[in-house]
Amino acid sequence: MTPGGLLAALFLLLALYCGIDPLNHSSIANFPEFEAHLVEMPPWSEIPAAKDDRNLLQKAEIKFLNQVQGPESVAFDPLGRGPYTGVADGRILFWNGEAWSDFAYTSPNRSELCDPKPSPLSYLKNEHICGRPLGLRFNKRTGDLYIADSYLGLMKVGPEGGLATSLVTEADGVPLRFTNDLDIDDAGNIYFTDSSSKYQRRNFMQLVFSSEDSGRLLKYDPLTKETTVLLRGLQFPNGVSLSKDGSFLVLCEGSPGRLVKYWLKGDKAGTSEVFAILPGYPDNVRTNEKGEFWVAIHCRRTMYSHLSGLYPKLRIFLLKLPIPTKYQYLLHIGGRLHAVIVKYSPEGKLVKILEDSEGKVVRAVSEVEEREGKLWMGSVLMPFVAVYQLE
Ligand SMILES: *[C@@H]1O[C@H](CO)[C@@H](O)[C@H](O)[C@H]1NC(C)=O
Ligand SMILES: *[C@@H]1O[C@H](CO)[C@@H](O)[C@H](O)[C@H]1NC(C)=O
Repeated sequence: MTPGGLLAALFLLLALYCGIDPLNHSSIANFPEFEAHLVEMPPWSEIPAAKDDRNLLQKAEIKFLNQVQGPESVAFDPLGRGPYTGVADGRILFWNGEAWSDFAYTSPNRSELCDPKPSPLSYLKNEHICGRPLGLRFNKRTGDLYIADSYLGLMKVGPEGGLATSLVTEADGVPLRFTNDLDIDDAGNIYFTDSSSKYQRRNFMQLVFSSEDSGRLLKYDPLTKETTVLLRGLQFPNGVSLSKDGSFLVLCEGSPGRLVKYWLKGDKAGTSEVFAILPGYPDNVRTNEKGEFWVAIHCRRTMYSHLSGLYPKLRIFLLKLPIPTKYQYLLHIGGRLHAVIVKYSPEGKLVKILEDSEGKVVRAVSEVEEREGKLWMGSVLMPFVAVYQLE
């Protein structure tokens, strides 16, 4: 064979290998129903370009290293004690100021399968058995803790802790498959998100790649025990937070990278609009005492993720290549984990941005809780809570 012929043969083999993916390396090889949906990305010029040139998040203090794995949400009880946080093995832990103790859990079926493991991601396989609490909020009046468990739905546990009670596992006949976050109004109604009715949390990367639109915003009325669907057709809805005056809520929509405002009171009640276009793809949102919104950004937008949102056919083509999920994901996030958090005014104006663009100290953030001049930051991916002292 001539060198040219050999090269052509090698190239053909490579093309065949990429086309067939015989070893199932592609991130969608085991997802026969995978579909790639269009994401209506805003024009690139409308995306906030502001940066924290000083990388202020690198000044955050890493607390409780290796004592908490994957603390997603951070909450303080009505007496100001805490934080409480839900971790990768399914427990909700309580910090009493000196030590961590078990406070609550969501699954009655916990077993040795939930025992300590090396990293937050190594629990994924058994999360449906151990439970995986994400969003946490206390009802300030009753002291009950409400829990969005990604596998078990909306739950509640009393101030004494223990096994949580299930409140909602389906809505409109469609089971909750990825319950994510919640907030509570003055009347005790719970507003919560189900990120997808197709993908569970352990397949969140496929959900990110798919951008499918089965996500919902729901409302649970504790008096009638009924659940209503407020918004459907959302692409990876995630965090939710009421405004300070309770007239609206904002919700993070992951795939398009935006905050959606849903009116609860007034003429526009029941309608929604875009509140802000975010510099990246969000996780949770929390309101501070001034009524501003802190948003944890999972990663900044990259031109790659922007284009793959706009061109689903191109995305499918790339996803079918024998490239392991991890590398597809790294392409999506721009090469490495790096934390960004942003603050919006009650009117939806970007007022602060803090980041660690090198991912040196705070590599990922799921939630930002402001309390007494400090920002408490949890992350599903990290074995610590980061605390930043505001200036
Ligand atoms: C790849 O996946 C297909 C379909 O799911 C399956 O039939 C096949 O055995 C898998 N191949 C390997 C090497 O795992
Ligand atoms: C616990 O296990 C039982 C028996 O396998 C099962 O029927 C039940 O659905 C499980 N409960 C949860 C919350 O997973």
